[in-house]
Amino acid sequence: MDSLELKKNLLEWYQLHKRKLPWRGEADPYKILLSEVLLQQTRVEQAIPYYQRFLHQFPTLAALAQADQEDVLKAWQGCGYYARARNLHKLARQVVALGQPLPQTSIELRGLPGIGPYTAAAVASIAFGEPVAAVDGNVRRVLSRLYAWENPTPQQVQEAADTLMAELVYWGGEVNTPDGSLPGDWNQALMELGATVCTPHNPSCGACPVAPYCLGKSHPERYPAARARPQKSLEVVALVLQGPSGTYLELRQGRVLGGLWGVPMEEGPGALERLLARFRLEKAEPVGTVRHDFTHRKLNIQVYKAPYEAQENPEHRPLSRLDRKILKLVETESLRLL
Ligand code: ADE
Repeated sequence: MDSLELKKNLLEWYQLHKRKLPWRGEADPYKILLSEVLLQQTRVEQAIPYYQRFLHQFPTLAALAQADQEDVLKAWQGCGYYARARNLHKLARQVVALGQPLPQTSIELRGLPGIGPYTAAAVASIAFGEPVAAVDGNVRRVLSRLYAWENPTPQQVQEAADTLMAELVYWGGEVNTPDGSLPGDWNQALMELGATVCTPHNPSCGACPVAPYCLGKSHPERYPAARARPQKSLEVVALVLQGPSGTYLELRQGRVLGGLWGVPMEEGPGALERLLARFRLEKAEPVGTVRHDFTHRKLNIQVYKAPYEAQENPEHRPLSRLDRKILKLVETESLRLL
């Protein structure tokens, strides 16, 4: 394979076809970090309004460090994977407490809260020009197809990406990147190709700048083979307690939704009885069902409601998408019955 041609083609394609995104061409490492943290689990179109709102509220690492966790989670509300927001906040506090700017190397970045190998490499290459390969799901798919790998190990993919980056640096004088660092542009070119051309389904091989080098292009959807995700189903009961002056909300604990507020919920057999006992209620009225998928869990939520003296205004608290769905259902059902 003529590896230099491949790189030239992809970089040229990237310069011509890259999407105009608010963090592209940005020099502030804090903004690049925020974009990469958001993009770990959120699609570009959904991430943009969060990126803008977050920066409006917390324009610098120092501003983020000073914020209350609840305000940070409120800004992240609806975006999911809230550990990202809790970690970014922790990171800001940790770095600012040392009186330092963000570290500039992938090794140092990796030691910070919530920063794994991907995010460290993405930020170090894009913000600081470090020649380190950032491998996300898009890059894994692009390389698996390029080399026709059905079940590549993470090490295999990382090594292939490292090799391409090392060769790129070696050939650096001969490739052309008008507006960014070469390593940052290269990493983003691979990701961009995966996001817009080498998509999971129906990839646009006809528009692909590296199709001449692609060993998988006759059956791109075979590479890489889908990984089975164990999905547990959970039966959950949610109890919406409302009165004239508000809704009852409690602070959630735990890894998934910890730090957010929500309506009382219990899972498993006897869930409704336990909820009723907790609030000394005799009965609650069934409202309907809400389904919600987390990465490894499918929730089936039976929603009940009961009148209650409660004070919270859900608008004023960070709520998960799940809780907003539940409250929406109760609101819609009440309006329907009027
Ligand atoms: N996904 C995550 N980070 C990205 C970036 N910088 N460009 C394109 N896609 C991405």
